Amino acid sequence: MNTGSSLPRDSFSTKFGVIAAAAGSAIGLGNIWRFPYETGVNGGGAFLVIYLLCILIIGLPVMISEFLIGRSAQRNPYGAFKLLAPGKPWYLIGLMGVLAAFMILAFYTVVAGWTLEYIYQSFMGSLKGKDPVQLKQMFDNFRYDSYRPVLWFAIFIILTGWVVIAGIKNGIEKYTKILMPLLLLMLISMAVYVLTLPGASAGLEFLFKPDFSKITPEVILKALGQAFFSLSIGMGTLITYGSYIKKKENLSGTALSVVGFDTFIAVLAGIAIFPAIFALTSVENFDVTRLADEGLVFITLPSILYSVPGGQILSTMFFILLAVAALTSTISVLEVIVTYFVEELKLVRRKATIVAVGSVSVLGVLSVLFTGVFSFLNFTSANILLPLGGFFIVLFVGWFLSRKVTQDELTNNGTVRARMLPVYLFLVRFIAPIAIAIVFLYGLLN
Ligand code: PFF
Repeated sequence: MNTGSSLPRDSFSTKFGVIAAAAGSAIGLGNIWRFPYETGVNGGGAFLVIYLLCILIIGLPVMISEFLIGRSAQRNPYGAFKLLAPGKPWYLIGLMGVLAAFMILAFYTVVAGWTLEYIYQSFMGSLKGKDPVQLKQMFDNFRYDSYRPVLWFAIFIILTGWVVIAGIKNGIEKYTKILMPLLLLMLISMAVYVLTLPGASAGLEFLFKPDFSKITPEVILKALGQAFFSLSIGMGTLITYGSYIKKKENLSGTALSVVGFDTFIAVLAGIAIFPAIFALTSVENFDVTRLADEGLVFITLPSILYSVPGGQILSTMFFILLAVAALTSTISVLEVIVTYFVEELKLVRRKATIVAVGSVSVLGVLSVLFTGVFSFLNFTSANILLPLGGFFIVLFVGWFLSRKVTQDELTNNGTVRARMLPVYLFLVRFIAPIAIAIVFLYGLLN
């Protein structure tokens, strides 16, 4: 489609670049920190089944829709809806995305800051020789301290802003290409190792054997929210990235790869963590339920890592890799706000970034100091704003956007076959919006 846009547009140079950037956004604390504790508090295997269903019938179609909106409009989400639906209120989806970006950054960067504290503590050797009870105590002491978490938060948000100003290609992209595969390797090794621990099978059973009596409307809502959060969809992040994808790339294939990687990493994190919890439980007689909260990763993983020789190095390495994974995600969230400021409010990139970082910091400090604010931002952004955004995005493509635009984008103007097109259209027109609406209404009313 010819957008008639006069905006100069950058683009990803290779197919690998697109997948790496989108996967970098998707893979992060959502997979390794949030997925395990959400699974833990929401019933284990049953939550996983619902989560996978949400990914497949809702997440994938929403991701393809975001890519195609972005690529056809070549704009930030707000501008994209203004261009594709002139005079209609669809641009509100773009604004809601900017709001969601503020909220996510304000709590996500707090957790990203925790990873910096744990790099420091691992490096200094202070996690050495501690049992899970002591590690939990340590985590709580740190989290409810007011000064250190604020400091780490500030460092992380400034780091994010710095990368966003400097541009992605020459810095972060170069390092993530090495560090993300390393994270994968480390997670795989950890998963394999914990499977050898006594009591591991109970953990696997918890993760993979669904007990459907655990499913409530709230659990389903949370699985849906986790799917949106983990895939970075529902707020226009991937509309923004889609606007940088070249016309020759295959959008549905790209989405499928990103969804596949993201899901694989989340399940892998689960395999590394749940058997470990149960192994620790059997050894320490420790109450599992007390672990299933935001501290989960920060307690179980050091415990596992320190049970092998070289634990101090392994733990330092793990938290460095986790921080990098978090950084490639915070960059993509900040990018949503900055692109909006630049294209719609006509700020220069540097100023846009400074204003964004400054305002996120106000909310971020509140979320460090008040757990209630943190939980509110975490719950509301993932379980409400993102699914709501996704609902309108699929409605837009399914019922409003011309069929020709959709078809042209998914077949690259008729040059590639899109065999799944009818399935995709059926999902975006009926299944995805109806499913989101039902989950939403039941989840919130119950
Ligand atoms: N998907 C990221 C994660 O799983 O850590 C978090 C995230 C990034 C959410 C970007 C939303 C977003 F737009």
